[in-house]
Amino acid sequence: MINRANHNCSPRVAAVPAGFPTTVGDTSAATGAIRHLYVHIPFCARICPYCAFYKDLLDRSQARRFCEALLRDLDQQHAVFAISPKTIYFGGGTPTALNTSQLEFLLGGFHDRLDLSALDEWTIEANPGSVSARKATLLHKLEVNRVSLGVQSWDNKLLEILGREHTAAQAEQSFHILRDAGFLNINVDLMFGLPGQTIEQWQNTLEQTISLRPDHISAYCLTYEEDTEFFARQSRGELKANPEADADFFETTMSTLEHAGYEQYEISNYARPGFSSVHNRAYWLGEDYLGIGPSAFSTVGLRRWQNLADYRAYADRILLRQSPVGSTENLTNEMKRAERIALSLRTHDGVSAALLRPFQNETREFIALGLLRQSNRNFVLTQKGKSLADSVAEAFV
Ligand SMILES: C[S@@+](CC[C@H](N)C(=O)[O-])C[C@H]1O[C@@H](n2cnc3c(N)ncnc32)[C@H](O)[C@@H]1O
Ligand code: SF4
Repeated sequence: MINRANHNCSPRVAAVPAGFPTTVGDTSAATGAIRHLYVHIPFCARICPYCAFYKDLLDRSQARRFCEALLRDLDQQHAVFAISPKTIYFGGGTPTALNTSQLEFLLGGFHDRLDLSALDEWTIEANPGSVSARKATLLHKLEVNRVSLGVQSWDNKLLEILGREHTAAQAEQSFHILRDAGFLNINVDLMFGLPGQTIEQWQNTLEQTISLRPDHISAYCLTYEEDTEFFARQSRGELKANPEADADFFETTMSTLEHAGYEQYEISNYARPGFSSVHNRAYWLGEDYLGIGPSAFSTVGLRRWQNLADYRAYADRILLRQSPVGSTENLTNEMKRAERIALSLRTHDGVSAALLRPFQNETREFIALGLLRQSNRNFVLTQKGKSLADSVAEAFV
């Protein structure tokens, strides 16, 4: 997921560092058209106590104006960059918190403004609490071809602990609604390492997910993110992370999903053959992308910038034809190389030997420890190494 944290069990690598001044400046290192767009819709019907993404409760009176600002943002970006999208990713927050007429206006606006003839994958994130047959049919008609459904668990008690707005039955119904609307590429998001969760509950969640035959499964280890209710409860000792149990959940995930025919093409991502996410792969390969919307990051060449993480201020600025950028950062080739190693190390294909050439001692050591192995011209994490991915990556920065 572009613009996202990675939720696996290892210590986190800051893939997208925060930046500073306020204008975008020179992007001349970039070559050719931008091929990847991320669009952030921050609205949620309810705020989950573990979530650190930029989001706010849905304010229906603001939604239309916000969609207008997104399209104006796209116009402003388009005036600067050639854009020929291969992938578009609508994330959040909850894009499906918008109603059908707002979605029609917004997605129609993308059709009107962009040449979509090279578009390969258009993903939208959906919460089971806001999927209807009408919305699903509209999204399919507007050429969205991949939906990422935030199921998290099939256990109602755990869904309650997570503060989710939906039940397991509603999630299953949403999945069928999406299939019936014609979606041939559906991802199901799951979370493990939840408070009180047993390995049996997790195994059941995996089995129930497999029985629906989604094309892609993302399985994230719960992380206690700063500035969340779960983090505060952990600080007070009410909730406790359990790294050993997390490692067992992770092992179970890998063996169960691989046995069911899903390839683990990245630490937290599993896909049936041919269904790995094109958008995510572009991110992991360090390709340029533009972010539209509040809090969204963009990276073009050696420039990275982030829009204001406040949707009202973002819309005000855009509609006054001012820049919505809150911070910018100059990257160095060294920083890009380090990110590339950290991200590609998490993937099935691993890191090219050329990128690790300056780290021959570390590489040898990880091979001796059974954490890395060589596969053709790449270095790939072993099963044991996958649990320690971020620690391994840290040695290469
Ligand atoms: C933006 S949310 C998905 C869309 C939608 N808002 C929803 O929740 O259904 C992206 C995914 O990140 C994962 N996630 C969010 N916060 C997390 C956390 N603290 N630890 C692990 N995974 C998390 C969840 O699996 C969630 O579905
Ligand atoms: S997990 Fe999804 S629904 Fe819950 S607050 Fe975060 S973005 Fe909103």
